Amino acid sequence: MIPVSKPKIIKKDIDAIKKSLERGWISSNGPDIFKFEKKFSKFIGSKYSVSVSNGTAALEIGIKALGVKKGDEVIIPNFTIISNALAVIRQLATPVVVDCNRDDWNMNINEIKKKITNKTKAIIVTHIYSFPCKIDEIVKICKKKNILILEDSAELLGVKYKNKFCGTYGDLGTFSFYANKHLTTGEGGMICTNNKKIFEKCISLRNLCFGSINRFNHKDIGWNYRMTNMQASIGLSQLKRVKTVIKEKVKIGKYYYSKIKNNKNFFMLAPKNKKLTNAYWVVGLVSLRKKLNAQTIIRKLKKNGIVARPFFWPMSKQKPLKIFIKNHKDKFSNSDFISKYGFYIPSFEGIKKKELDFIIKCLNKIK
Ligand SMILES: Cc1ncc(COP(=O)(O)O)c(C=O)c1O
Repeated sequence: MIPVSKPKIIKKDIDAIKKSLERGWISSNGPDIFKFEKKFSKFIGSKYSVSVSNGTAALEIGIKALGVKKGDEVIIPNFTIISNALAVIRQLATPVVVDCNRDDWNMNINEIKKKITNKTKAIIVTHIYSFPCKIDEIVKICKKKNILILEDSAELLGVKYKNKFCGTYGDLGTFSFYANKHLTTGEGGMICTNNKKIFEKCISLRNLCFGSINRFNHKDIGWNYRMTNMQASIGLSQLKRVKTVIKEKVKIGKYYYSKIKNNKNFFMLAPKNKKLTNAYWVVGLVSLRKKLNAQTIIRKLKKNGIVARPFFWPMSKQKPLKIFIKNHKDKFSNSDFISKYGFYIPSFEGIKKKELDFIIKCLNKIK
């Protein structure tokens, strides 16, 4: 089988974790945690970074650190990972969902404007799959209305929007280091901010909000969402390769595009969209044939030994979320369409040209 993603672990990553083990730095109490956070801040251009156990944890801590609480509304994409909605409902706040665009799959900015009320406390801006959101336009809107921004950059670590990295535009940015990301620590995540108060709150929340005088007299309701030193040691090693990974992904995306763009059965995002560059974190395709939905195509590819994955399923259609989302009964024609017909194909660093050509041949044969 050709997997949809495959982490690239090099000898330096293995040596780093070995060193961690040999020195007994196996929990979160170790020197590589601090080093990784410092190097990450320098790389991304943010004052502070807080490592955590995964990207979902980063979102949960982030939303609480922004002061979101019961009665607040938080605008989130309808086409996204469930972790965005979960972070909001865990604080007993209300998610308000916004449809995406057909031409980049990110949140539609006009729809964001329509959803703002006097209860809107924050927005989660998530860069989805390929292109960065036009985050500067969202920042402008939010500044005027006093709305806080959590920028979920789990999928676009190391990718720039205009002259700054994704994840550094909001009041805080979050990242995931899951096995399919540009940088992996197995599981893991990071929160970045320039705000000292938010930083200190995140540090406390990830570590059970231990008391400062009596450690076991806790300051707030926190979590144990700490990263281990072993993970941080791989992170430090992987951080050096992020730019190479992105370059390779873009190369793979461009190759697929050159071979698939003329196939009338599929829509694929081009390498450029106006002035923006496609990062191709995943190579997504949307079927344009009514009888060929994503599940049907995924089954056909599997028969040829190719693993593909369906796109996110809209938040408004998630059964467990219906009682929480304010506007789940609204119409979301774009997210409904792409989640039914969208899927992504193998595009990991190190995939061979003959594998790419085989996948392309199989896709072009689908009728
Ligand atoms: C946009 C986005 N946010 C958050 C997450 C959650 O990250 P994790 O799997 O590390 O919890 C993901 C996971 O892929 C994601 O794609």
